[in-house]
Amino acid sequence: MLHAIPKPILDRMATLEAIDAADRQEGTPKAQRLRQIPPETGRFLTLMAASAPPGTVVEIGTSGGYSGLWLILACIQRRDRLATFELAADKVQLAQQTFAAARVEQYVQLVHGDARSKLVELERIAFCFLDTEKDIYLQCYELVVPRMAPGGFLVADNVISHQAELADFVDRAMADERVDALVVPVGKGLLVCRRA
Ligand SMILES: C[S@@+](CC[C@H](N)C(=O)[O-])C[C@H]1O[C@@H](n2cnc3c(N)ncnc32)[C@H](O)[C@@H]1O
Repeated sequence: MLHAIPKPILDRMATLEAIDAADRQEGTPKAQRLRQIPPETGRFLTLMAASAPPGTVVEIGTSGGYSGLWLILACIQRRDRLATFELAADKVQLAQQTFAAARVEQYVQLVHGDARSKLVELERIAFCFLDTEKDIYLQCYELVVPRMAPGGFLVADNVISHQAELADFVDRAMADERVDALVVPVGKGLLVCRRA
């Protein structure tokens, strides 16, 4: 899986990494930036999604499709498809270009819109990566957890980099008896929840 990443995927990852690095250096306004995960978080997502039970693989916050490519590596292994949700039209367009350039379109359903209105349609979520605006993490969490398969995982990004902003969200997950949860210091800090 991680030892034999197809070249079109590696090339597109490198392109997005270069755009993201330039964004950060040039101080591009937040709305235009990709704000994507670092590669070590990507590797972690691949491993976790590949280890999840049968069911739907979901991402909330596609941006340019970078984290989606790491999740798609797991989907190829699972013979599955990623459902990924993005609100911003310009990001949807860029993600479409990503999935075409990486030649993985058959492994992804890219949905344009507010994830909160679409998550209610999902059943048996095996894996969810939550990486959107911090003020809607808790809402997304409450929509996802009741729809998770037993043994399924929810992984949320930025819980260390945005510790104060996400404190209520993390407290809720840690006290929630429907899941077992832990914060792991990978990348910007990931909250990992496993559905009991
Ligand atoms: C941090 S970025 C995602 C980065 C991406 N996961 C990656 O690592 O490549 C957050 C994204 O969530 C999107 N977003 C914000 N609110 C949303 C919502 N309600 N539904 C779906 N996407 C949303 C933003 O437009 C932005 O592109």
